[in-house]
Amino acid sequence: MAKVRVLFVCQQCGHKVAKWLGKCPECNEFNTLVEEVQKLDEGIRRPLLSEERPMSIAEVQPVDRPRVPVGLPELDRVLGGGIVIGSVCLIGGDPGIGKSTLILQLCEKVARQGRRVLYVSSEESIMQTKLRADRLGVGAPELYLVSETNLDMIRRYLEEMRPALAVIDSIQMIYRPEIPSAPGSVGQVRECAADLTFVAKRHGVSLFIVGHVTKEGAIAGPRTLEHLVDAVFYFEGDRFQSFRVLRGVKNRFGSTNEIGIFEMLSNGLREVPNPSELFMSQDRIGRQGSVVVPSFVGSRTLLVEMQALTTRAAYGMPARRVTGVDLNRVAILIAVLERRCGLGLGGQDVFVNAVGGVQVEEPAADLGVAVAIASSFRGKAVDAKAFVLGEVGLSGEVRGVTQAQARIVEGRRLGFERAVVPADNTRGLEAPEGLTVVPVRNLREALDELQ
Ligand SMILES: Nc1ncnc2c1ncn2[C@@H]1O[C@H](COP(=O)(O)OP(=O)(O)OP(=O)(O)O)[C@@H](O)[C@H]1O
Ligand SMILES: [Mg+2]
Repeated sequence: MAKVRVLFVCQQCGHKVAKWLGKCPECNEFNTLVEEVQKLDEGIRRPLLSEERPMSIAEVQPVDRPRVPVGLPELDRVLGGGIVIGSVCLIGGDPGIGKSTLILQLCEKVARQGRRVLYVSSEESIMQTKLRADRLGVGAPELYLVSETNLDMIRRYLEEMRPALAVIDSIQMIYRPEIPSAPGSVGQVRECAADLTFVAKRHGVSLFIVGHVTKEGAIAGPRTLEHLVDAVFYFEGDRFQSFRVLRGVKNRFGSTNEIGIFEMLSNGLREVPNPSELFMSQDRIGRQGSVVVPSFVGSRTLLVEMQALTTRAAYGMPARRVTGVDLNRVAILIAVLERRCGLGLGGQDVFVNAVGGVQVEEPAADLGVAVAIASSFRGKAVDAKAFVLGEVGLSGEVRGVTQAQARIVEGRRLGFERAVVPADNTRGLEAPEGLTVVPVRNLREALDELQ
């Protein structure tokens, strides 16, 4: 076994000391020292890739990094078209959200293609994993299970088995014996992840690492973990609702705008082919403060129901609370409604909610939010057969949005009959059959049209 020593490295300034101290002697920051293992015979160098010398970019032979499509279109889209061979991905998510379920279903799909898959469970016994696998209908013979927490053992399995795909569920329980601190500590997580990444890259193993998230919602352990890997995904959702969203946060091989939508059922995660239906209730007729907005997420459009509620403020400062939309934009829209349309919102509490827990941050939803607030304030329902899109400027003008064509097509597909769109967008816009396009130039026109 290689000789190693443990050093403590300051996360702030990079200063190294031989024993742990509460305060870095170099930069005087507290609690910044973290263990790092150094192989004495290897020096501090840990090469990730084999290229030895600098070479001209013209000399570098492009290697086509093949992708393995998993066969779950929602997942493949988020991955950027499939798993890139030799890549390392990190999946984070709240406890119990379904990370192990997703990963196990992914392993099954890859193993059914005849590729060897190693699932390392560090939190559950093989029996527990098997029980879950039975519930999910997972049973490909090429899928190997092991329950292990010692990094040296995991490394040995990877080197001996050379699987096409390996999964570590989760990194927080893996420990490197040379490091004295407990599994899950910053030093352990960082060292273990770096080591596994190194082994995976050297042997062309695609690696998925599951990580827990902290109370603040970031992946637990140092931020460096996210720098180390090729792609970072978050598996999110409301635990009290059945659907889950897989969101790309970083991807060296694809877009990070994509989301994959799944529904959690007793026999596992099912892909949701028509997600717009999830974010919209069917019986919206006559409901005040509710309007549908086509929002662009990644490469597709989702129809999202925007809801607003206004009530007289009981205490001094009126409250403005939002979920799923940007609070600053809502504050601007309230000011615009007040000044340009004469709505007396100054003494009103305003609440805005994007239904279903989606995040709609693009300006194209402005008009929808403004219309929903006005609808609630005036106590008049919006035409339930209409949807709206448009960015609202400070003088109350409605500005054009991107991808207007795709948005109205999706709206028509789900049965809407009227689209209120910015006048700027109507040039070149082809209305699908059965859909009336109503161009508006400012917020006042839009309100008159819809209420
Ligand atoms: N028998 C069952 N029937 C239906 N759904 C179940 C059943 N058992 C578990 N689930 C669902 O699976 C979820 C747990 O999934 P999973 O273990 O994959 O989550 P996880 O994110 O890996 O959790 P952890 O953070 O504990 O590792 C539960 O929250 C529940 O929704
Ligand atoms: Mg789990």
